[in-house]
Order: sequence, then C-alpha cells, then structure tokens
Amino acid sequence: MPFYHKLGSIPHKRHTQFRQPDGTLYAEQLVGTLGFSGVSSLLYHKNPPTKIERIGEPVPFSYKLAKEAKYAPSHLRTLGEKTTGTDYLKARRTMMANNDCAISICNPSEMEMAYFYKNAIADEVVFVHEGSGELLTQMGRIEFRPGDYLVIPRTIIHKFRFNEGQVRLLIIESFSPVETPRRYRNHFGQLLEHSPFCERDMRAPSELVHEDEKGEYLVQIKREGFLHQYYYDFSPLDVVGWDGYFFPYAFSIHDFEPITGRIHQPPPVHQTFEAHNFVICSFVPRLYDYHPQSIPAPYNHSNVDSDEVLYYVAGNFMSRKGIDIASFTIHPSGITHGPHPGTIEASIGKVATEELAVMIDTFKPLYLTEEAMQYVDEKYPMSWQDGHTDPPRAADMMD
Ligand SMILES: [Fe+2]
Repeated sequence: MPFYHKLGSIPHKRHTQFRQPDGTLYAEQLVGTLGFSGVSSLLYHKNPPTKIERIGEPVPFSYKLAKEAKYAPSHLRTLGEKTTGTDYLKARRTMMANNDCAISICNPSEMEMAYFYKNAIADEVVFVHEGSGELLTQMGRIEFRPGDYLVIPRTIIHKFRFNEGQVRLLIIESFSPVETPRRYRNHFGQLLEHSPFCERDMRAPSELVHEDEKGEYLVQIKREGFLHQYYYDFSPLDVVGWDGYFFPYAFSIHDFEPITGRIHQPPPVHQTFEAHNFVICSFVPRLYDYHPQSIPAPYNHSNVDSDEVLYYVAGNFMSRKGIDIASFTIHPSGITHGPHPGTIEASIGKVATEELAVMIDTFKPLYLTEEAMQYVDEKYPMSWQDGHTDPPRAADMMD
C-alpha cells in the first residue's frame, strides 16, 4: 500500500535495541518486496520468526487446466453451491487460471480455521460476496463484511474467523503484486483527485492481536502445487508493533465512486486494482449516460488482447433467467461479444443501474479448470441467436 501505517510499540530508531520486559530483545523482521527496492514493513516479534519446530509432509493443493475445452464464450453457474468444502483452504475451487492469476470460489462450511495460512508466492484478493467476520493477521485485525475486497500481500500469515451464516468468497490469486492503478497515483504514490477512491477508503489493520500461549501452531504455506506444513511452538500472532508500507487492507466495493459520462464509458473507468498482465474492476450502482441520444448498453467489441471475466454479485439480474448472482461469464480474446438481441433498444431511456459485479481482465489467455467444467452452461455461446428467449439481462448492460 502506498501509505505509511503503524500499530503497537516500535523503537524510536529502526535496527536498534528494543527489549521485552524480561530484558531479551524483540525479534525484528523486515518484510520487503522487490529486493529491498519495493515497499516494506518492519515487524517486532516476541519470538524469532525463524524458529521452526518441524516441517510436515507437503499436501498436494492444485488444479488441472482444461486446455482441451472448447474455445468459446463461457457461462459458469455457481449459485447452487452453498458450501464447497469444510474449511477455508479445503473449500477453494479454482475455476480458471493462467500464469498471472488464478480465480477461485470458496464457500466454507466451517467458521473457524484450526491453522494459519500463508501464500508464499501470490498476493490474494478475497472478495467477500456473502459473509462477515474478522481477518486476523500478524499485522493486526481487519473486520470485513459483504462487498469488501481484502487485499492480502504474499507472505503475510493470517486466518479467517467467519460469523455464522452463508460465506461466499471470490478469491483472486495474483503472482505479481496487486496495486492501485498507476494512472490514479502521483509521484509520491498518493491517490489523485480523479481516482474513484482514495486512501481514506482503505481500511488498514486496526489493532494487533496477541496470542501468548505456548502450544503447537500450524502454518500452511502455499507454494506452487502444495501446502507445506510448518509447525511452531508459539503463535505467529506475536507481533508487538510494526510500521511501514507493506500490509493487508480492506476496500469496500461500495466505496468505489463510479465515473460516468454523457456517452458510454469504457471498462477502464471501473478499474480498481492492477497487477502484471491483469486488472480487477468494480461495476457499481450508477447513473447511465446522459447525452439525449445516448445508448446505455455497450457496443459490440472484440477483446483483441484480453480475456474478460465478470462475476455477478448483486443487481436486477437476480430475478431473471440466464445470468444469476455468483455466475461467471468469460469472453475470451478474439471473439466479439456484446449485448444480447433486443437489449440495445431496451436500454435507451434507462437512467440508472443497481448492478454490482467484479470484472477481471487478463492480457494472456485464461483456461477453465477441470473442476469448473461442471458449472458450464452449454447453451451460452449461442445465446445471441434471434430466437433466444431469455429476457433482457442486466449483464447485457455491462462490458
Ligand atoms: Fe467486454
């Protein structure tokens, strides 16, 4: 994150003596990126973070890409999945992926995690579709609620605690750092006035969480296709203070201020995050275009160099056939897509939309996974035929 934050107790000067009440030194740890040239934070632990007790056998944790699947517009329906597994990691089902990102659904039935988790090689953006609770991290606690993007940079040890009720998460793993769009930041990294959100909308960890009891603590570390089992005799939640620019945070999609215009605005106005070779965008309730001759529905377009994924969160498509909430549509590069028959005329005169959706555009081809195939709506590629009978869908009004 391009702003400075600190929590708890830290010494006046970095890399100097900082002692515990019993006289021993706190263990200082630099968590940094880009080989000491990127953002970083300094953490102060009660216990040496290097003190591994033992390492268990790696647990396979992967997905298979369905590279033989048809090259076609796709629609995946996942609303029927109340639960996709027991705990936070077992419930992850990866729907599509490439070398830059992996996109999963995760609807756990267990509200507590009996372990900690760290992704060693990817940042994770957890979009909370349904559910609430708290994210406990080494750098503090973040309360979350529906509509939150939880941005968890790689290597931060954490666990989720969900409140009772349906939990429905969309998880985007990014193999490069997830950042705010460069064009919205000034030379110092501050978000500019034309940005649809600013630092005030970012919720950094609010308070540190301490677990002092000795015991056996498991941290499952994800790297490539395995979960590596690291055991410690102290809790990783032993940080007494930290400061810096590297930390997890929450940003609510409801705090994204839409950019509108007299005529149809292109998808980049919805951009919220960027990473290497892909972007994440937020479609939020907004007024439609106000030129007297405007057409609110998007024009047909060819994604020459990007695959376009939409995940539907809420809006008036809920009561209609076709696209439902928790559905994905995937429009691969090279195949023209656009509004369904009749929806361009039907959009004229509409003044506003209540839709809520998350879009992920990747600049390299995405592949559905074998696990995703069970959710595929086989009729979707032909749904632009004149005889197609589904009523107009809010999805037609998106890009
Ligand atoms: Fe599009």
